[in-house]
Amino acid sequence: MTQIAEKSAKLATSAPAASLAPEMLSHLAMVTHDAEATTDFYTRIMRMPLVAAVMHERIPSTREIMPYLHLFFRMQDGSTIAFFEGNGLPVREAPPHPMYDIFNHVALEVSTVEQVDEWKAWVESNGIDVLGPVDHTIIYSIYFFDPNGIRLEITTPLTPDWNDRPDEAHEVVSAWLRTKHEALSSGADVKDALYRLVVGEEQARSK
Ligand SMILES: [Fe+2]
Repeated sequence: MTQIAEKSAKLATSAPAASLAPEMLSHLAMVTHDAEATTDFYTRIMRMPLVAAVMHERIPSTREIMPYLHLFFRMQDGSTIAFFEGNGLPVREAPPHPMYDIFNHVALEVSTVEQVDEWKAWVESNGIDVLGPVDHTIIYSIYFFDPNGIRLEITTPLTPDWNDRPDEAHEVVSAWLRTKHEALSSGADVKDALYRLVVGEEQARSK
């Protein structure tokens, strides 16, 4: 077992009782500049009812006067996606690399591949571009954006153990971190080292 895998295993065994692990997603909260479009999108297109909304007059931590609205849209398991609309907030600057917009996303699960396909047709029928379906071997997904520019994924598992492979996961993370740290400490090109790790030396040589 590698040092990092050992550390991970130690962390897992020294973790608090499993009963104290989080049980579900309560809410994922983000800023919106358009509560109206957001409410229409999540209630009508995403079929997630508006189940809670509150207003406050100031930002709790800084005490700055900033009337804001806090909205919650609920999924079937009770978890919610939430938004805050303030007023006069500048638009967020574009990220420094496209990877942020490509990989930052919220994935929502449905039961079957057929349902993912139905979602694609439904979202497209509302004039929204959809990427996919993409067969990731373990999950099957489509991708599109909400009115706030948040990338959403509708996905379904293709294998029941897709999120229950801890040994493999620790090994993958361990290999990644070991390669990264070795490259860093030897002054090698980290990106190249990671590329070689992912594709294998043979394929890397024929690049
Ligand atoms: Fe995803």
